[in-house]
Amino acid sequence: MNLLSAKYSVHVEICLKPNQNRLETLEELLDAPMREYLSMVKVPLGESVKVEGSTFESNSGLKELQFVESILIECEAKHIGEFLNDADLRHLILHFYCPHRRVMELETFDVESGDAGDGDAVPASSHWLLPSNSFLHLWENLIYEDGLKEKLLKFALSALIFSQHSVNPHIISCNRLLLLHGPPGTGKTSLCKALAQKLAIRVRRTFRHTHLIEINSHSLFSKWFSESGKLVMRLFAKIREIVIDPNNLVCVLIDEVESLAYARDCMSGQEPKDAMRVVNALLTQLDAIKEHPNVLILATSNLAETIDLAFLDRADIKQYIGLPSAAAVKRIYVTMLTEMMRIGIINEQSLTEDERHEGLLSALAERSNGLSGRTLRKLPFLAHAVHTASSDYDLDGKIRLSDFLDAMLAALEQHHCDQKLMKN
Ligand SMILES: Nc1ncnc2c1ncn2[C@@H]1O[C@H](COP(=O)(O)OP(=O)(O)OP(=O)(O)O)[C@@H](O)[C@H]1O
Ligand SMILES: [Mg+2]
Repeated sequence: MNLLSAKYSVHVEICLKPNQNRLETLEELLDAPMREYLSMVKVPLGESVKVEGSTFESNSGLKELQFVESILIECEAKHIGEFLNDADLRHLILHFYCPHRRVMELETFDVESGDAGDGDAVPASSHWLLPSNSFLHLWENLIYEDGLKEKLLKFALSALIFSQHSVNPHIISCNRLLLLHGPPGTGKTSLCKALAQKLAIRVRRTFRHTHLIEINSHSLFSKWFSESGKLVMRLFAKIREIVIDPNNLVCVLIDEVESLAYARDCMSGQEPKDAMRVVNALLTQLDAIKEHPNVLILATSNLAETIDLAFLDRADIKQYIGLPSAAAVKRIYVTMLTEMMRIGIINEQSLTEDERHEGLLSALAERSNGLSGRTLRKLPFLAHAVHTASSDYDLDGKIRLSDFLDAMLAALEQHHCDQKLMKN
């Protein structure tokens, strides 16, 4: 199957409940009912939504929909929150998947302190079979300027198409290496994982299995420097075992890649040659592994200026991931407040139709300028602590939305105060 779809395509990702049936069987069973469901029910784009139970309980033709956990519809030509029209229904591409439930699949590579024999271990990498339950809904909850995530997805698909066509590397260079860099807490690591998960869902007909292997760069430079070279080799020998099967797509995530540069720069210590050997080994192994057409390398850094030049040079795309814009901040707040309503901690009320709520939300977004997504995502928890400490707190009832928004503002001011004190 072609990895790219027609320009005007509506992608419907259908997450299935854990089931005894084979995915292929369910896919066949569910194709027609799913299309019928989408023609009957309005599903907002860009949000994971559950299938309404009432639809398949009252309509025996749709009973197979009981196997569906949630659906996500995406269409490049439309905005988040919009709905499909009749013409869109002719462009549906259905992607069925059943996420792997185990947090860690296969193996975690460890390095043991051979000499000391104290049994202390440093995890050098982690391994997931995708799509994984761990990364469910991650993609749609990462909020950036319009088109950024789609651009990265297209890059990844183009890179895979080039390698599938065995493009001559002496004529066209494509290393299948994507680097995301930018300030801390802007979602770089999460975005790499979400991208790998998205690929797993979208390319299932080309690659039966997608693996994500996250290399912990820091751990390669552990206290056992003399072991590090061997560790890199062992790690890549394992990766190669997976890559050798062309049915596998392997995404290798090198998080905080600047630690490689750091290691080279700090070679005045006792074992400079060893550190140099590790970095060289890693670069050589990366070059060797990318000879396989089914490997994609994803790297992140929040200190791009210190990245090893040899590595930087290999990156096909160096994408800056900045702090969220005002519009993105507002959307992040909306997702968090909606979640608080879903779990029943705050009252379900409209955020945008009520003037007071809208005003408080805008005030929050304004005061959040310069904050990272990571800081924003902590606010509901801090706000809850603020609110439950106040005299308004009612132990038995749900929190009113306006009270919670007030508490969010108070928590935000507290955060700004704490930051100021830390700088002084
Ligand atoms: N733009 C964003 N939209 C939604 N959530 C975000 C955004 N940016 C960051 N987050 C959230 O912040 C948290 C931290 O993200 P992550 O660890 O991926 O950031 P990072 O850029 O890798 O940070 P670091 O540079 O410190 O490693 C995650 O929970 C992520 O969902
Ligand atoms: Mg990170």
